[in-house]
Amino acid sequence: MPTPALHYHEATKHHFQRFARSAGHLDWKTQPNPFRRYDGAPRLELPRAASERALPLPYGGLYEPPRDPAVLTLPSIAELLRCSLGLSAWKSIRGSRWALRVNPSSGNLHPTEAYVVWDAGVFHYAPDAHALEYRGRLARQTWDEWSGGAILIGLTSVHWREAWKYGERAYRYCQHDLGHAIAALRFAASLLGWRLALLPRWSDAEVAALLGIDRDEDAGGAEREAPGCLAVVTPGEPAAVMRRWPSTLLDAITPAGWRGTANTLSGGHVDWRAIDDVARAAAYPGVHDVAAGVRLPDPGAPKMAPAPPVASPGARDVILRRRSAVAFDPRVGLRLDTFLQMLTRLRPHAPPWDAVDWPVAVHLMLFVHRVEGLVPGIYAFLRDPSAEPELRAAMRPEFLWEPVHDLRLLVPTDVTWAANRLSCDQDIAGDGFFSLGMLARFEATLAQHGDWAYRRLFWECGLIGQVLYLEAEAAGVGGTGIGCFYDDPVHETLGLTGHAWQSLYHFTVGEPVEDTRLETAPGYEWE
Ligand SMILES: Cc1cc2nc3c(=O)[nH]c(=O)nc-3n(C[C@H](O)[C@H](O)[C@H](O)COP(=O)(O)O)c2cc1C
Repeated sequence: MPTPALHYHEATKHHFQRFARSAGHLDWKTQPNPFRRYDGAPRLELPRAASERALPLPYGGLYEPPRDPAVLTLPSIAELLRCSLGLSAWKSIRGSRWALRVNPSSGNLHPTEAYVVWDAGVFHYAPDAHALEYRGRLARQTWDEWSGGAILIGLTSVHWREAWKYGERAYRYCQHDLGHAIAALRFAASLLGWRLALLPRWSDAEVAALLGIDRDEDAGGAEREAPGCLAVVTPGEPAAVMRRWPSTLLDAITPAGWRGTANTLSGGHVDWRAIDDVARAAAYPGVHDVAAGVRLPDPGAPKMAPAPPVASPGARDVILRRRSAVAFDPRVGLRLDTFLQMLTRLRPHAPPWDAVDWPVAVHLMLFVHRVEGLVPGIYAFLRDPSAEPELRAAMRPEFLWEPVHDLRLLVPTDVTWAANRLSCDQDIAGDGFFSLGMLARFEATLAQHGDWAYRRLFWECGLIGQVLYLEAEAAGVGGTGIGCFYDDPVHETLGLTGHAWQSLYHFTVGEPVEDTRLETAPGYEWE
């Protein structure tokens, strides 16, 4: 009997003959508003100046252990949000205009909403205005003791924003986006010399109660948000807050303190029951066993190559400049050292991997087209090399597994056509230096942890994608996440059968070709 998550996963695969179920067209009349507002909630405009701490940090500094942390004040919280979830640009063409953000999103639909718990208040972040909306209040003394000077960031998803375009497969994209947002926040915390770690004890229901998204009375007819995760952000050690119990803080909520009513995002909806069902089945139950320990994040960064000292671009600049490439120049190749450096960043221990407390479950299957000194072909990059025997046994017996630097060459051959075809016939997958599929240890992860771990696998993929986006940007090239790929044909190419391993996300990196028809304006008029 498949679990609900496995059932959903199977049902939302793209096949050569048939895409996952969706409306099949875009109903522009019901296009969801990408910006949530809480009408009637007091609004706090955030400071606009860049942080003095963040400005001089070279890109490589994002991955190094923090030192000289910024003081946690409203201006530095503003910088954290601006450099993770704020607006990065406005694009326009022939009368239509849309915002882009520091974090990427499938279809630029931005299902992820963010909340900040700070100064005994619960706030919603409104990225369009770069403002906080005051939602709820906590007993001051309990908050001060519980938080010990840290803040919390909560992330949620509006599934409908993605489902409007992508139908049933949208739940996957919401989880990818959440993973990107976690990594974007982790890197912005690095800019300020802070740590960020997810809080493993908090169940979805507890996260919803803290953020106030479970309150029917504030929702009216507005689209509801599904709880995603809660993270601690701190200039110190996250361990103490990670160990604290949610109930103490939830008891400190002032019931009469809630303010604001959520805005309606769309004039009409299509119900996608498959999404409601998987969301229910994959709810995170939290940890209630008082004896259960918390796996603390590893603060060290022992395996990271040092950042290039002279030519390293500024970290803040790279973060704010991140953009998805829409086309690549297929004549350009990538330097080998740059390629290997990108992959090294995906090994655990350094940020953003210290934000999560689970072991590596996702590895890369690379379609290498044009990397200096490498024979084109399919390569494996194992983020945890101990997975090799298991993967090897699961994949085609004729694969070579020949060591090449940190990679394993599986098949030496031109794979531009295959990469393009498998990624829904998107040219960007074949025109780049390389593209890749993220292969997750699937069945065993769900069997061990339950269906909620389905979300976590996608988050891990989103984190990988965010690192690759920044690495590409820092190297002066471009990357793009690819959520559209033909699932089982990817598995067949690799000789995988069953559900032990599943490809959950693709990514491509290449020499970007700009779309010069678009006009670009800054994310905020004051910048
Ligand atoms: C999960 C995810 C899946 C995506 N899938 C595709 C894709 O299949 N094809 C594509 O061209 N872009 C894809 N993108 C890129 C988005 O279209 C892009 O992030 C969005 O338009 C916002 O632009 P920006 O990244 O430049 O801010 C994806 C992005 C994410 C985060």
